[in-house]
Amino acid sequence: MQLVTEDNITDLAVERWSTAKDPRLAELMTALVRHLHDFAREVRLTEAEWMAAMRWLTKTGQISDEKREEFILASDVLGLSMLVVQMNHRLDPAATPATVLGPFHIEGSPELAYGEDMSEGLPGTPLYLHGTVRDLAGNPVAGGVLDVWQADTEGAYESQIPDVDEARLRAKYTTRGDGGFCLRTIAPLGYTIPMDGPVGDLVGRTRISHFRPAHIHFLINVPGYEPLITHLFQEGAEYLDSDVVFGTKQELVVRFEEREPGATPDGGTSDVPWLEARYDFVLQPQG
Ligand code: BEZ
Ligand code: FE
Repeated sequence: MQLVTEDNITDLAVERWSTAKDPRLAELMTALVRHLHDFAREVRLTEAEWMAAMRWLTKTGQISDEKREEFILASDVLGLSMLVVQMNHRLDPAATPATVLGPFHIEGSPELAYGEDMSEGLPGTPLYLHGTVRDLAGNPVAGGVLDVWQADTEGAYESQIPDVDEARLRAKYTTRGDGGFCLRTIAPLGYTIPMDGPVGDLVGRTRISHFRPAHIHFLINVPGYEPLITHLFQEGAEYLDSDVVFGTKQELVVRFEEREPGATPDGGTSDVPWLEARYDFVLQPQG
């Protein structure tokens, strides 16, 4: 029998977790045990601090449900989500880079036509965002579906608003034969991540800015290509260099040009001033 000491406990725990039947689980759990023990040793973790951490984890679980993903938010603000994205999407430098999914994507958005409005009835400055989806060789990708979602001018996503009975600021647009797409929406604004839970409590004890710069989310899933989860950010937006979830990339920053009332990119007209943004998404072939 081997009795436990401060010196041998890590080896004992690693040995125990190395019995996981799935070899990858064994690799993950033994590394986790080693790093957790090293952390506790490095900071000389006290019992009060350990208990505070347990309570924080409990609250993080308790506030979570199918609409609120507090653990994902914790991973986002720690930079873990973005690190995992970067390690798992080492794309060709010419391909559009990926960024975090975030907690607000909703499946099953309505399919809208070229230039159709996904912001129907909501206040805000009209924005036409158009461009193409292409492959690395510059060939158009026809029939590609862009799943798009964004927050309203109060910074709220549909899933944060109770009792919404129609899709709100989310839609699917399909590229035409020339790879072209055009979506009509309202200009996004920067917003704060939810600060009323344990993640907000922790962030609030630091000097970390809890805002995200103005952006629109895209999920582009085309057979034969790597699925692309990304955002486009407005050039010059506040918080671009302090995004609380580390999601910004230079290649994803787009200029929103101010336009006078008149012809719009979908062939229609606008009676009010509007904004125009152009972006060409480049997809990486699978494999
Ligand atoms: C978002 O952009 O929707 C988001 C991403 C990570 C955390 C919170 C919000
Ligand atoms: Fe967002």
